[in-house]
Amino acid sequence: MLKLLARYSVNRPRYIAMSASLDSSRLKLTKVAKPSTPTPPDLLQFGKTFTDHMITIEWTSEEGWGIPELKPYGNLSLSPAASVFHYAFELFEGMKAYRTSDNKITLFRPDKNMARMNRSASRICLPNFDSEELITLIGKMIEQDRHLVPNKRGYSLYIRPVMIGTTSSLGIAPPDKALLYVIASPVGPYYKTGFKSVSLEATDYATRAWPGGAGNSKLGSNYAPCILHQLQAAKRGFQQNLWLFGPEKYITEVGSMNAFFIFKDSATNKKELVTAPLDGTILDGVTRDSILILARERLDPNEWTISERLFTITEVVERAAKGELVEAFGSGTAAIVSPIKEIGWNNELIKVPLLPGEESGPFTKEVSKWISDIQYGVVEYKDWVRVVATLD
Ligand code: COI
Repeated sequence: MLKLLARYSVNRPRYIAMSASLDSSRLKLTKVAKPSTPTPPDLLQFGKTFTDHMITIEWTSEEGWGIPELKPYGNLSLSPAASVFHYAFELFEGMKAYRTSDNKITLFRPDKNMARMNRSASRICLPNFDSEELITLIGKMIEQDRHLVPNKRGYSLYIRPVMIGTTSSLGIAPPDKALLYVIASPVGPYYKTGFKSVSLEATDYATRAWPGGAGNSKLGSNYAPCILHQLQAAKRGFQQNLWLFGPEKYITEVGSMNAFFIFKDSATNKKELVTAPLDGTILDGVTRDSILILARERLDPNEWTISERLFTITEVVERAAKGELVEAFGSGTAAIVSPIKEIGWNNELIKVPLLPGEESGPFTKEVSKWISDIQYGVVEYKDWVRVVATLD
């Protein structure tokens, strides 16, 4: 329903139609006839199976957000001229729901994902929405499919909110119609190799993002152009690209995760946890932010420096040569905390030390526990975890 706003002007009242905001209380629920049986966690492949329900909400520039629907997972029906197919009006989020040992289902910092989703939407002229309303709707969806949230540490329900432009027109213009939908997939480790350290290829022959571009927005169009280079790196035995930028060869991110390095100054023994700054060319990762907050709070400043600064592959090579590269890892919602074991660069391998017989360095292991203890409800931390459902 449209909200009418009466506005008084000098001589006569004027009525201006205001478009509707996203309203979770208008939800229309259609349940599946028969809930599905959960796949055993060890058989889950990232993003291949989906839960029983999905959310869809249509938007038009005239009427605003329509009635949210929670309904059986199924195909969408769109015009072949829809703007998403021609000019890449698409953005998405990645967030997770966790099952705690006391049988609650929680979301980890969902407000951060919603804020980023709205920023991505603004970047490509798609509409904004009330974050709390979408969190409420996602909670209702998880409630319906709560039996499909894996009950195992390291496993979770990956939630994929998406927004697309659906205007049926080939003119290049801001869409006047959009669809916001949310699907969910029970998942384990992101990488096919399982919970293991990864090898990256430092990539300077292609560029993922650039200043003034859209590399800090979660747009599908940031990912598709990188797959060719991922395949090229895979042929040489690497799982992902470590994206470098510019003649200086700054380290930016991995594409599926942010990148952290730890250097140890041999003169002072002081360690530095370093990651690239949010200069517009990297994604403002929720896990990245969480790690920085926890590290600043929990690490002794006499022993550690926490830096968001520009640093180059040359610095990594030089520090590795001096024995000062002590750890490296990636962070992301899908990847969680993924230790990095080696980086291919200039036909050489930069080896990153791991604990003997293990897949991780000591800090990577510790920070991974910090994060997952909060996510799985073992440790409470501020308001980072929201309970959205309880299992019977
Ligand atoms: C995430 O970590 O949620 C991502 O979006 C990475 C990738 C699956 C695209």
